[in-house]
Amino acid sequence: MINILLVSSDPGRTQQITAIIAASGIGHQLRTLANGLQQVCTDKDALQVTDLLIFDGYHLTGDDISALEKLSGRRRELVCTLITPSPSHELLIQAMRAGVRNVALWPIERDSFVADLKRVAGRRAEADHRDGQVLSFVSCKGGSGTTFLAANLGYAIASLRDKRVLLVDLNQQFGGAAHLVCDKTPPATIADVCAQIDRLDASFFDACLTHAYPNFDVLAGAGDPVKAVDIKVPHLERIVALIRHQYDFVIFDVGQSVNPVSIFALDHSDVIFPVLHSSVPHIGAGQRLLQLFQSLGYPGERVRVLVNQHDKRGQIALKTMEDVIGAKISKVLPNDVRAVLDSVNQGVPVIKQHKNSPISKSLSELAESLAPAPRASGTTRLTKLFRSKARVQPSPA
Ligand SMILES: Nc1ncnc2c1ncn2[C@@H]1O[C@H](COP(=O)(O)OP(=O)(O)O)[C@@H](O)[C@H]1O
Ligand SMILES: [Mg+2]
Repeated sequence: MINILLVSSDPGRTQQITAIIAASGIGHQLRTLANGLQQVCTDKDALQVTDLLIFDGYHLTGDDISALEKLSGRRRELVCTLITPSPSHELLIQAMRAGVRNVALWPIERDSFVADLKRVAGRRAEADHRDGQVLSFVSCKGGSGTTFLAANLGYAIASLRDKRVLLVDLNQQFGGAAHLVCDKTPPATIADVCAQIDRLDASFFDACLTHAYPNFDVLAGAGDPVKAVDIKVPHLERIVALIRHQYDFVIFDVGQSVNPVSIFALDHSDVIFPVLHSSVPHIGAGQRLLQLFQSLGYPGERVRVLVNQHDKRGQIALKTMEDVIGAKISKVLPNDVRAVLDSVNQGVPVIKQHKNSPISKSLSELAESLAPAPRASGTTRLTKLFRSKARVQPSPA
């Protein structure tokens, strides 16, 4: 079932498009709007449920392009189809930049229009069955950089890989993960969600999130040990059941405490990242944590040790660390004081601010290992149209 919003000011074209969709055999819900795109821009709820926006751009204006850009920025999953009688080279470039993924020529060529609908329906069905990967970050010792890595990896996966990511801050004290990556005040915390668990549904949960960036949401931590006590396993169970199908990645910043709630998060994690430094106190703590994971029955391949703030000139060899903790080191992240300090002080993700810094490169590699870049896929109709237009462009004198 796909949710289609058709925006057209022409009753004749609305009727024809509606008839093609109705005869397509694809399960759908169709709403039509005659008042232009501005109305969609102001109706957040309508946009939230729309999978496919078909815009009749017979008389396309610059305002329409800006509105399309705004809409596709607000909802990354939205597929925009633009209907136009004569797509010029410039218009195709503008449309592509505004997030339009399909361009249909008017009068509509039925077969290719229906093929586009089927593609959207396929993506929708996939999203409905999406079972997000769950990652957990655990501090072997306070100050290892767990929160910094969890939050910045979340942003890296969301921005570099176009995946929907939710960061859940399970820290009992100082739950400040959201502030590391954005300057928005969280509307609610996980403790607030748990206190009203009977109200939990997709829209209540959405209202409690910090929407840090288009693909990246944060559920803020309790921030207060007294409130954190009221977060119980059945609460987290209900939250996980809801979010697993809505996000490609759910990242728990578990912090340092091992308690029933954090063990629930770890039990449900596909990958657990213990974070430590290459120093004697950290190695001792890491050894005990990994023993605990063993006794909890977590298989070695699920536990990937991260050595953070590593200094190559340090006294402890990585091989020695591995021997002591009894596990392989999965990744070493550099000590990058300048870039990290700048990022945390300004509350901006480090790869946004210092893209080429050593720590950003390591975070990008980690993101790549978890969400590999897709191989070049088949050409969309928009790119085909664009290419055919590009071929007939006169070459500059
Ligand atoms: N790779 C790094 N290079 C330099 N500083 C780092 C790095 N990772 C984290 N830090 C710094 O370490 C401090 C502690 O990080 P934090 O994420 O709060 O640790 P934890 O959550 O494990 O207690 C932060 O102030 C951050 O600036
Ligand atoms: Mg922390």
